[in-house]
Amino acid sequence: MENKMIFAGLAVLLISLASVPASFVYGEAELDTYIVFLQKPEGLSTLADGDLESWYSTFLPDTTLASSSSTTRLVHTYRNVVTGFAAKLTKGEVKAMEKKDGFISAQREKMYSLHTTRTPAFLGLQLNNGLWNGSNNGKGVIIGVLDTGVTPNHPSFNDLHMPSPPAKWRGKCQLPKCNKKLIGARNLVGDTYATDDEGHGTHTSSTAAGSPVQASAFGQASGVAYGMAPLAHIAMYKVCSEEGCPGGSILAGIDAAVADGVDVLSLSLGGASSRFPEDPIAVGAFGAIQKGVFVSCSAGNAGPASASSANEAPWILTVGASTIDRKIKATVLLGNKAGYDGQSLFQDKKFRHRLLPLVYAGANGRAASRFCAPGSLNKSVKGKIVLCERGGEIARIGKGQEVKDNGGAAMILMNDQPNGFDTLADAHVLPASHVGFVAGEAIKAYLNSTKSPKATILFSGTIFGNPNAPQVASFSSRGPSLASPGILKPDIIGPGVNILAAWSVSVDNITNPPFNMISGTSMSCPHLSGIAALLKNAHPDWSPAAIKSAMMTTTYLSNLGRTKPILNEQLQPANLFDMGAGHVNPVLAADPGLVYDLQPNDYIPYLCGLGYKDSEISGLIQRKAHCGNVTIPEAQLNYPSFSIRLGSTPLTYSRTVTNVGRANSVYVAKVVLPRGVNVKVHPERIVFNRLKQKATFTVTFTSKGFSAETYSQGFLYWLTKGYVVRSPIAVISA
Ligand SMILES: *[C@@H]1O[C@H](CO)[C@@H](O)[C@H](O)[C@H]1NC(C)=O
Ligand SMILES: *[C@@H]1O[C@H](CO)[C@@H](O)[C@H](O)[C@H]1NC(C)=O
Ligand SMILES: *[C@@H]1O[C@H](CO)[C@@H](O)[C@H](O)[C@H]1NC(C)=O
Ligand SMILES: *[C@@H]1O[C@H](CO)[C@@H](O)[C@H](O)[C@H]1NC(C)=O
Ligand SMILES: *[C@@H]1O[C@H](CO)[C@@H](O)[C@H](O)[C@H]1NC(C)=O
Repeated sequence: MENKMIFAGLAVLLISLASVPASFVYGEAELDTYIVFLQKPEGLSTLADGDLESWYSTFLPDTTLASSSSTTRLVHTYRNVVTGFAAKLTKGEVKAMEKKDGFISAQREKMYSLHTTRTPAFLGLQLNNGLWNGSNNGKGVIIGVLDTGVTPNHPSFNDLHMPSPPAKWRGKCQLPKCNKKLIGARNLVGDTYATDDEGHGTHTSSTAAGSPVQASAFGQASGVAYGMAPLAHIAMYKVCSEEGCPGGSILAGIDAAVADGVDVLSLSLGGASSRFPEDPIAVGAFGAIQKGVFVSCSAGNAGPASASSANEAPWILTVGASTIDRKIKATVLLGNKAGYDGQSLFQDKKFRHRLLPLVYAGANGRAASRFCAPGSLNKSVKGKIVLCERGGEIARIGKGQEVKDNGGAAMILMNDQPNGFDTLADAHVLPASHVGFVAGEAIKAYLNSTKSPKATILFSGTIFGNPNAPQVASFSSRGPSLASPGILKPDIIGPGVNILAAWSVSVDNITNPPFNMISGTSMSCPHLSGIAALLKNAHPDWSPAAIKSAMMTTTYLSNLGRTKPILNEQLQPANLFDMGAGHVNPVLAADPGLVYDLQPNDYIPYLCGLGYKDSEISGLIQRKAHCGNVTIPEAQLNYPSFSIRLGSTPLTYSRTVTNVGRANSVYVAKVVLPRGVNVKVHPERIVFNRLKQKATFTVTFTSKGFSAETYSQGFLYWLTKGYVVRSPIAVISA
C-alpha cells in the first residue's frame, strides 16, 4: 500500500498488510504467537528473574507432546515494563490458561508497520549557541530506537567527541562492534546481529542523534548532516524484519530498553487504532513512563483521512509530519509552453532537455495502467514521457521502474485529489517529476487538446526558502483519536518530508557514505525524540509529561515568514486534527514558563473513565487497580491540549499548571473562542511566588449554538512577560 511505502522511499520493504503472521500447524491445532499479560500474585512482587520465569512456565502447556518443550514455545519473556510473555500456543491452550490465577488477557500477536540536513537550522538549532549550547547537545542522554536495525560503520555513528556511556547503562552489543555513539544494539526478531538490511533504522537513529558528517544524495541537499541531539548516545532495538514488526518483539524491545537504561524511546512504527490494554506499544510505553522514560512515536502515514492516527495513548508523544523549506526541483514543461514545478531527488544530468512524446499511462482505461502497476505497461511507451497517477497501492518509485522497464524516457507522477499539492523528492530510477493534482489535471487536459502532445523535464536541483513551509504533509495521519476521543491527537508536527539522513547502501551507487532522502512520520518522530533528549539534558528533573507539555505549549502555528497560518496539502489552513498543538519550536520548548505535568498514577482514573476493566488496568500499571469511584472523563486528564465533545450541557474541566519559568510571576488567561462556544476560565489570573509552585484553574465550555457546527477550534493562553503558554481547543459536537 502506498501509504506504507512513503516512509521507505524504496520498494524493498513490502510490509504484510495481514494482521496475523503465518501460523504453524502443531499436531491437529494451529500454533499462533500470543502476547499473554499477567498480574503477579500478591506477595510475589519482587520475584527474582529465575522465579519469574518458572512462574511464567506454569502457564505454558504440558510438554508431553512430541519433542516440543516449553522453552521453544516461549518467544519472549517480559520483566520490566509489563508482566507476561509471548509464546506459540493453540486456541485451546490459551483457553485453558484463562482459568489460572494471575491471568489477565492473551492477545494474538499483530504485525505493526514502519511509518527520513537541513532540519537543525530549520528548527533554530545552532552550533555553540541557544538550545544546543544550553543542553550540551544532549550529551549523555540515551535514545533507544526501535526499528529495522542499524548500519554500525556509517560515519553518522562515529564517536568523535562522544563521552563514554553513563554508568547506569546495562545494554548489550549485538553488532560486530559498538562505540561511544552507538552504545548498544539488540536483535528481537532473530539471533543474528542487529544490522539494518533496509535503511529505515539507520535513517531514524541518525536523525535523532547522528554525529556531524558531510552528506548528500544524487549530489542534492549537500551539507553537514547532524542529528537533533548530536552528543546523545544511540541504542538500537531491532524489532522489524522484512515481514514487518511483530507486536511481541516491539514489547520485548521496550522491555529490554527500559532495563538497559535508555532515557528516550523512539518508535517510528505502529498499527491500527486499538484499545490501550491490547496494544503492545501503549502497554510498553506505560511501563516506560513509569520509569521516567520519554516515549515518542510516529502518528502514521494514513492521512489525509480523518481519524487515522496510530499510537494514541496520552502518555505517548504522537508526532505528525510537516515539510521543510527545501525542494529538489524538477519542472515539467509541456509543448504548449506551460510549466509545472514538481520534485525528484534523482536529477538526471544526462537527460536532454528536448520535447519528447507524452502519453497518459491510463489511456487504455485500465486502472492498473493508470497507476503504472508492475506489468501494466508495454513497449508502446518506449522513448516517451509517461504520465502515471499516485495510488493504487503501488510505491511511487515502483511506478517509475515499470516505465523504465518498458523503455520509457521519463515519468511524470501526478497526485490524486486527496494528496493535493504535496510533492516528494524520491530516489526515482529514471528522470521523473512528482507534481500535484491540479498540475496533473492540467497535463491531462493538454494531452486531450492536441494530437501530438510533448513534454520535457527541467532539473534545477536543491532550492531553499519555500515560503509555505512548514506545511502539514498529506500522508500525515490525522485526529480525532478513535481510542480516546477526549485527547487531542496527533500531539504535534515536526519535519518529515524530504529528510536526508544516513542509509545502509548508496542510493546512487556513487555517494559514500550513503544517505537517502525519504518522507514519513517515521522521519518526524526521531526529530522529536532527539529534541526530547536535548530537553532531558537541559532539565534532568522534568517528567516525560512535563517535557511533552513544554513542546506542545510553545509551538508555532504560522509559516516561516509568519505571514500565513500553517497550511495543509490542499493549501487550506491546517486544523488541530491535522497538526495537534502545532509545529515544534525546540528553542522555546526549553523555557516554556508553565507545564501541565502528570505522574503515572494520574492516568489511572482516566483509564477507569475509558471503561477498561480493573484487571486490564492492573496489567498496564503492574499492580492491583480498583476503579470504583475513582474515575474521570478523558478531557479531565491534565493534558496540555483540549479535545471537547460538546452538547447542550456545559462542561467544566480543571487543569493544574506548574511554574517552571520565573519564581515571581503573574499569569493572565486569554481565550481565542471557538466559533459557537463560550469558554470561561476561573480564576483568570494566577500569581506565583516560587518555582515548582502549582496552581489549579477550571475551564467551562458552553454551547452558543454550537450544535449546528461539527467542528470548531480555539486557544487558551496563559500570558506573562516573556512567556506565552498556549493550549489548543478542538470542539466537536457530542
Ligand atoms: C552557553 O552555555 C553556557 C553554560 O550554560 C553559558 O554560560 C553561555 O552563555 C552559553 N553561550 C551561548 C552563546 O549561549
Ligand atoms: C500496448 O499498450 C497500448 C496502450 O495501452 C495499447 O494500445 C496496445 O494495444 C498495447 N500493445 C500490446 C501488444 O498489448
Ligand atoms: C480527456 O478526455 C477524456 C476522453 O474524452 C475525458 O474522459 C477526460 O475527462 C478528459 N480529461 C480532461 C482533464 O479534460
Ligand atoms: C546502481 O547499481 C544497480 C546495480 O548495478 C543498478 O541496478 C542501479 O540502476 C544503479 N542505480 C543508479 C542510480 O545508477
Ligand atoms: C469512594 O467512595 C467511598 C464511599 O463513598 C469513599 O469513602 C471514598 O473516599 C471514595 N474514594 C475516592 C478515591 O474518592
